[in-house]
Amino acid sequence: MGSEVCRTIQSTQDLILVGGVDPYGQKLSGVKMFSDLNAALEATNPDVVVDFTTAQALRSNLEICYQRGLPMVVGTTGLSQEDLQTWQKKADDKKWPVIIAPNFAIGAVLMMKYAKEAAAFFSKAEIIEYHNEHKLDAPSGTALKTKEMMRETLAGEIQIHSVRLPGLVAHQEVILGLPGQTLTIRHDSVDRSSFMPGVLLALSKIRETEGLVYGLEHILFADI
Ligand SMILES: NC(=O)c1ccc[n+]([C@@H]2O[C@H](COP(=O)([O-])OP(=O)(O)OC[C@H]3O[C@@H](n4cnc5c(N)ncnc54)[C@H](O)[C@@H]3O)[C@@H](O)[C@H]2O)c1
Repeated sequence: MGSEVCRTIQSTQDLILVGGVDPYGQKLSGVKMFSDLNAALEATNPDVVVDFTTAQALRSNLEICYQRGLPMVVGTTGLSQEDLQTWQKKADDKKWPVIIAPNFAIGAVLMMKYAKEAAAFFSKAEIIEYHNEHKLDAPSGTALKTKEMMRETLAGEIQIHSVRLPGLVAHQEVILGLPGQTLTIRHDSVDRSSFMPGVLLALSKIRETEGLVYGLEHILFADI
């Protein structure tokens, strides 16, 4: 994801990629790379940091950017509910701009919105999420977020099933049931390019963000 974001920013006219961070020495064509975020910030003085790393790395990166008041756009998943609540409060208190979205694909955001709407009419629902075998966290951040949104209108327990297989990118089905009928809402990301318009949208909105915004739906739809 980091490489894909770098290529996208490099090919976007009004954005300048000032550097990239990878502690394991990964090189990227045309990108000044650093092994440490603090060193990168000192050398490049960016307006915003985009984070697609691991939950463990993100915890430390959030603290570094928060201390500097440096805005962040975050796609990394795997933060706990407690982490999110802590950061919501810290960011809101300081009006520190940070957008965290467990899924930047527009279709996935719509899937979550429609699942929330449908949940008001159904008594039970289950979520099946499918990702590639290298994904570190399970259930996915998208599935947890979908469940959280559906819980606002559906009281029953919502089970999440996680499938990890080679050949998959990021897919999710929400199946809602009533006696005699089911409704299935499905989204498929078949390529990582699916996430890039959402990342660019978040970057375009970060300057006007105050505190933590969790989920792209708050940027896309006024009524959520
Ligand atoms: N929000 C979304 O739309 C979305 C979409 C896809 C993936 N993701 C999430 O984004 C994250 C990354 O996904 P991926 O598929 O690119 O994983 P990946 O394992 O391919 O890449 C993670 C990268 O982070 C680097 N890294 C580790 N620690 C670091 C640190 N301290 N500083 C900088 N870089 C560090 C690793 O070297 C690695 O290159 C995961 O949490 C994944 O679930 C989110």
